[in-house]
Amino acid sequence: MSRKPTIIAPSVFACDFSRIGEEIIRTEKAGADWFHIDIMDGHFVDNFSFGPAVTESIAKVTAKPLDVHLMTEKPDHFFLRFRPFARNITFHLEAPCDTSGTARAIRKSGCTVGLAISPPTPFAKVEPFLSQIDLLLVMTVNPGFGGQAFIAEMMEKVRAAKGIREEHGYDFHIEVDGGIGPDTAQVATEAGANVLVAGTAVFRSEDPTKAIAELRGVE
Ligand code: DX5
Ligand code: ZN
Repeated sequence: MSRKPTIIAPSVFACDFSRIGEEIIRTEKAGADWFHIDIMDGHFVDNFSFGPAVTESIAKVTAKPLDVHLMTEKPDHFFLRFRPFARNITFHLEAPCDTSGTARAIRKSGCTVGLAISPPTPFAKVEPFLSQIDLLLVMTVNPGFGGQAFIAEMMEKVRAAKGIREEHGYDFHIEVDGGIGPDTAQVATEAGANVLVAGTAVFRSEDPTKAIAELRGVE
């Protein structure tokens, strides 16, 4: 299986919301491949972020793929609100819904589908779904907040996912999300991740071009 190219997906949740349009344009110029859109509902996670209206505004200022990360209850209900603007829609295995049915519905809507697992969730729980998804999101922090420390133990899940992908000839992306900077990006890509979500490391950097190059430079 040829190695998947590294994709840098800055998380907009870390940007200066008073200048969100400028921040998106600046970060696209700095080399972002995708934009990671963290949707938090105050129930599934103990925090709020933004919803479809802000996502629509982001889609107006960039043509880069939007990688929507639903940290919400009822993803089977809410994913459709993001469908017009998203390339990929990821929901959580821990969200109480029909996982296979929701994955099917997201794919049928025309988006690719991602499935996310939070740190406490054993990898074995997501194995049965790997044949049904386009992206596996291995959370490297507990969902709900940016700026947290990378949980290195999650690399076991990345390695396991890579092994199963190769063994079965699947083709899903392996994405990591949370605490990703130049050093942890190297650890994650060596373990087998190819999509790197970075909020603080990019949007809080003085030089986003350098920050993105450092993340990508681990190839
Ligand atoms: C956390 C989000 C992450 C987070 C990443 O729930 O899913 O995308 O915003 O932020 P950093 O890169 O600062 O850890
Ligand atoms: Zn995220």
